[in-house]
Amino acid sequence: MKFLFVALVLQLTLSDAMHNSEPAENLPYYAYVTFVNAQMEFYGGGALISGIHVLTCGANVQGFTMWRVSVGSNRRSQHQNFITTQAVAHPNYAEANNVRMNDIGIITLLQPVVFSASIFPIALGPVFGDEEPSPMLNIQSLIMGFAGNLTAGTQGLENLTQGHVRTTDVATCVALYPASDLIQHFCAEDRSVGSNFCLGDQGGPVTTMARGREIMVGIQSLPGCTIRPSLYIRVSSYREWIRSETGV
Ligand SMILES: *[C@@H]1O[C@H](CO)[C@@H](O)[C@H](O)[C@H]1NC(C)=O
Ligand SMILES: *[C@@H]1O[C@H](CO)[C@@H](O)[C@H](O)[C@H]1NC(C)=O
Repeated sequence: MKFLFVALVLQLTLSDAMHNSEPAENLPYYAYVTFVNAQMEFYGGGALISGIHVLTCGANVQGFTMWRVSVGSNRRSQHQNFITTQAVAHPNYAEANNVRMNDIGIITLLQPVVFSASIFPIALGPVFGDEEPSPMLNIQSLIMGFAGNLTAGTQGLENLTQGHVRTTDVATCVALYPASDLIQHFCAEDRSVGSNFCLGDQGGPVTTMARGREIMVGIQSLPGCTIRPSLYIRVSSYREWIRSETGV
């Protein structure tokens, strides 16, 4: 039996794909991730941060036993697929008061991907505290995902889509997500066309430009779909944990 990932209880509009998004070119770091346990199969996103490591959200890892990482194209039918049983969620991952705490995980491939123009890892931002916490208020960031029409099946859409969000001020974020912790979370939203990630996108990256290169600053954690802003994990706060787990 197959179900989609609907574990969290914010009121979500189940028919939504990534909301108000636009077609995306291939983003060589983007990974479509399918994850299964004894009864269920779900999908979400992630990002290659090395030849064997995919950074994703903890919810895509905790309680699952096998992962399929699909990379190399903005068309799902043209992906290269890698199956693995190796993944770790943050030791303090937890769901509490409709917010996921320490919602970060790492999937490790059994063999490295071959880097090419269409498959390449993304750089991570600085360690929190070393420099300005990134992303800073109002910085524009890119989100992307394959989330599909959830009433129609258990697979994502054929084509990758993307949206542009800006980091939201703390007061707005805390008002919507009282249990959030602004060291580990940030909120972001698109105030012009309302693009937003949704169920089936969670775990995918949020990237921004820093000194002329694209870096991963966040993880899509709590899908808002039509509710904005959505909640993201601040990667810079987990830089040391990522390094200790991956060497990256
Ligand atoms: C989702 O798919 C179902 C069944 O194919 C269809 O009836 C419905 O209109 C679709 N919803 C959207 C938002 O595309
Ligand atoms: C996906 O995008 C291609 C163009 O890259 C287009 O030809 C195709 O129709 C799209 N497929 C779907 C299912 O939207």
